[in-house]
Amino acid sequence: MNANPESLSSNDCELQLRADGSLRHLLTLKGLDKALIIELLDDAESYLSPDGTLPVRSDALAGRTIGNLFFEPSTRTRASFDLAGRRLGADVLNLDVNTSSRKKGESILDTIYTLEAMAVDIMVVRDAGAGVPAYIARNVKEFVSVLNAGEADVSHPTQGLLDLLTIRQHRPDFENLVVAIVGDIQHSRVARSAAHGLQTLGVGELRLVSPPAMAPVDAELSFARTVSTLDDGLRDADVVMALRIQRERIDDLDGIPSVGEYFADFGISEDRMRHAKPDAIVMHPGPMNRGIEIDGSLADGWRSVITQQVTNGVAVRMAVLAHVARAMQK
Ligand code: NCD
Repeated sequence: MNANPESLSSNDCELQLRADGSLRHLLTLKGLDKALIIELLDDAESYLSPDGTLPVRSDALAGRTIGNLFFEPSTRTRASFDLAGRRLGADVLNLDVNTSSRKKGESILDTIYTLEAMAVDIMVVRDAGAGVPAYIARNVKEFVSVLNAGEADVSHPTQGLLDLLTIRQHRPDFENLVVAIVGDIQHSRVARSAAHGLQTLGVGELRLVSPPAMAPVDAELSFARTVSTLDDGLRDADVVMALRIQRERIDDLDGIPSVGEYFADFGISEDRMRHAKPDAIVMHPGPMNRGIEIDGSLADGWRSVITQQVTNGVAVRMAVLAHVARAMQK
């Protein structure tokens, strides 16, 4: 869907902040203050039991209602927002997009106004349109918060936070870290949000590793090194993150390798990991395509922190929900 073009030019980072510097909405990690990111990561830790597992419950959201509006497929993000809300004592409404009135031509704002009239306090939105979360944030009533759960190829801030938390648990010294993100960088909101967060936390070196047809084209990622061969990209890396090829966002297949070629050149496996640091960790946001971007035995092996990312995703979403709810009027 096309959002109001005005929304695309505005500064989403300012729009998401309250006058006191706390978050009213979470739209992007781009430009978000380092102290605020660290506060959210620390809060997320507090929702994990000491051994790093879930759940720790609280009543921080008792009496609040969360609406999950996912206009694009999702397993992990939607399930974790749902559980995060329930574990904080909120009522959670999961809108079924296939039977929602948006399918009958209702505008997204009319859907939003309908939920406002039912006193939904926090709207969690995933949409294929760039600018949609900011557009909604600009149009909701004062009492509503909007959380971006995946916006086109632009931004996925809670994924970025869970990736930062997972990295911090294993390698807290960001300034001395080499992080390699491998795969379809150009079409990935996960890569963009991870890059913004890593930049703010002062990562030593970020490498974006991909075939030329999937390399980033945006200037805002120019602080990172673009690398076009896997072995160079992995050399001495501490953290390696594999990404899915985002075929749903690729119109022109020119230069896009076949599945077999892709695995041979960019698929990560224990054998290819010999170029990275001996104790390097492996991440993936899911959904995974085993045998394409990652070998199944590496995904299940000792280096993999993929299931820990999922656990951390619930804790991060609990932290973000509790943060925006803290300043809400009774
Ligand atoms: C990602 C997404 O939707 O952007 N998944 C997720 O949220 N965990 C990555 C993907 O779809 O490949």
